[in-house]
Amino acid sequence: MNETLLAALLAEIRATSKYAHVSDALVRRIGARELAVRRKFKEAVQETRNKLHQVGGLYQPGRMRYGEWLERIAVESPPDDALRDAMSHHASTRERLPILDSFYARIFDGLPPVHSVLDVACGLNPLAVPWMRLEHGATYHAVDIYADMMQFLGAALPLLDVQAHCEVRDVISDPPSEPVDVAFVLKTLPCLEQVDKDAGRRLLDAIRARTLIVSYPTRSVSGRNVGMAQQYAERFDALVAGRGWEIERLEFENELVFRVSTAR
Ligand SMILES: C[S@@+](CC[C@H](N)C(=O)[O-])C[C@H]1O[C@@H](n2cnc3c(N)ncnc32)[C@H](O)[C@@H]1O
Repeated sequence: MNETLLAALLAEIRATSKYAHVSDALVRRIGARELAVRRKFKEAVQETRNKLHQVGGLYQPGRMRYGEWLERIAVESPPDDALRDAMSHHASTRERLPILDSFYARIFDGLPPVHSVLDVACGLNPLAVPWMRLEHGATYHAVDIYADMMQFLGAALPLLDVQAHCEVRDVISDPPSEPVDVAFVLKTLPCLEQVDKDAGRRLLDAIRARTLIVSYPTRSVSGRNVGMAQQYAERFDALVAGRGWEIERLEFENELVFRVSTAR
């Protein structure tokens, strides 16, 4: 791969405010492939942007007001309204707001005490910490591809009684593997598999969690239900085949959740 061309593509992508903060590793992964298959540099840049939109930009349709949200979370007691307001600015958490109470009540029901969480490709889901049943002072490791989002979450999470470790990470190139009590992989596998169809399998191989929570959207971002639950359930069955995991299926209005005991 021509490193000069790749550096030029990275600079072009970074020049737009929408992708100014996105992970270098992910831009390079997508960009290198586009440079290899497109005839013109401009086309490679455009296709890289399209792909970044599909896996990230699509979920953040408006301006992310991190400074304002942080201020509100810091001063409001309890901060639940401020947290809900912030979560409404990421499509994935916005869809979950109407069911937030029952979602986490069912997911945590009957689990042994949870001292550590990994949230993979987290979006703004870590702001739902007050709805989760975590032990006092639990550690919360959140990863996503946006540096500004990770900086915001790194400042907000300590205000919610958890020890935060928030990092920019492309989990396709670098899947996390430190041991945790609970790992969330919420509505994320289809995104990763758009970039690399084997990324989901590698991620599930790497994660070391006693309980793994994997979910899939059952409506598209535009709101259409196109038999997604069935397709994703089949995809998940294929991903977990032969692992010997104990799996429970939890159905919500817009989301299909698998609660997995891995015995890891
Ligand atoms: C459908 S959203 C799910 C967000 C969150 N898990 C939730 O359910 O609320 C997908 C998330 O994956 C993130 N993402 C996409 N590609 C990624 C990658 N290669 N590594 C880490 N995060 C990624 C996006 O930025 C986005 O926040």
